[in-house]
Amino acid sequence: MRAVDIIARKRDGEELSAEEIDFFVQGLVSGAIPDYQVAAWAMAVLWRGMTAAETAALTMAMVRSGEVMDLARLGPVVVDKHSTGGVGDKTTLVVAPLVSAAGLPVAKMSGRGLGFSGGTLDKLEAIPGFNVSLSTGAFLAIAREVGVVVAGQTGDLVPADGKLYALRDVTATVPSLPLIASSIMSKKIAGGADAIVLDVKVGKGAFMRTLDEARALAKAMIAIGQQVGRRVTAVLSDMNQPLGQAVGNGLEVAEAIAALRGEGPEDLIAHCLTVAAEMLVLGERADDAATARRQLEALVADGRALERFRRWVQAQGGDPRVAEDVGLLPAAPVVRAVEAPRSGYIAEIDAEEVGLASVMLGAGRERKGEPIDPSVGVVLGPKVGQRVQAGDHLFTVHARSDREASEAAKRLLVAYTWSEEPVAAPPLVYDIIRGE
Ligand code: URA
Repeated sequence: MRAVDIIARKRDGEELSAEEIDFFVQGLVSGAIPDYQVAAWAMAVLWRGMTAAETAALTMAMVRSGEVMDLARLGPVVVDKHSTGGVGDKTTLVVAPLVSAAGLPVAKMSGRGLGFSGGTLDKLEAIPGFNVSLSTGAFLAIAREVGVVVAGQTGDLVPADGKLYALRDVTATVPSLPLIASSIMSKKIAGGADAIVLDVKVGKGAFMRTLDEARALAKAMIAIGQQVGRRVTAVLSDMNQPLGQAVGNGLEVAEAIAALRGEGPEDLIAHCLTVAAEMLVLGERADDAATARRQLEALVADGRALERFRRWVQAQGGDPRVAEDVGLLPAAPVVRAVEAPRSGYIAEIDAEEVGLASVMLGAGRERKGEPIDPSVGVVLGPKVGQRVQAGDHLFTVHARSDREASEAAKRLLVAYTWSEEPVAAPPLVYDIIRGE
């Protein structure tokens, strides 16, 4: 087999065999196929697409490129969740302990934030002492003993994805549906998942800007699941405005704790219950989503969800007292409340702009590896659809200095669109697509 022939076949729109795809992935990892040929192939895939069988073959070839976590001892069905990323998305912080409290263990690998989109590891590290760098042994031990663990990638999982993504990033080939779908699914499968709930975000603060794009990605990932024997459910959820009120790492932890008490913002609680319920159904802990939801609501109401959060934080070296006292989280020196400049209905709060304002404050990073400040960010007041009077509280900025607070406030005010006429709040969930 020759790489050039495989590239030519894809260029001409032909379907590659599983053997050809395997050969290509092995060659890209070993270095036998040089970067320029991988880049040419990725561009051919971007233009020509891939069939469901090709996408599944690519996913499994990528899984085989590295280690695979064995989570079989955790239970008969290991369920993971994955969010395609957004602004104010602290869903994992709520859902992981909640689902675990319902008897379904969660052993999850998460990532860091980049650009306007936040990352779960950064949020968890806002908790004093919380350790996200666990060995495989420690990861598995916490999963077994506490029933919930979330860490950075352990072991050498899917090296093919790291290499391919770096090349896609500099060759304008990231937005290829089969490449995105196989990249996400290979990491979930190598992480040991038997079943996966995908939280596919749609809107201005998301990777997928339109419902059609999000639906296509969801279907591509469900199709991979069908081909490789993993049950997949996709929740298509709104990311035109941030989820919940808080954007910024420590602020989001505080909001997640409130949600686990049942006191958090309604949209966050509702969204987390939707995702968690789908996980319980896939994990065979409930017959249907409505039953699962009732189970989960009871765990929040009687404090068992928060207690599981406390044990989880303690197991990963964090200060468990944050569960009762969010004052232990890092606090910014400048906290400035900003008023509405006019009266009207809030028609839009551009999630990307809010994300970028929080990056400006130091809550996120423009480039991989940059340090972040866990104390800073924004807490929104009223959201889309609500009527506001001029002078009412609109949002609060948590900043390192007065100057940074002023700059962020200026940027945030531009993120709001106003209407004289009543505006309907956007739906939280557009659709739930369940694979077979
Ligand atoms: N997220 C991933 O993990 N991979 C992609 O290709 C795009 C988004």
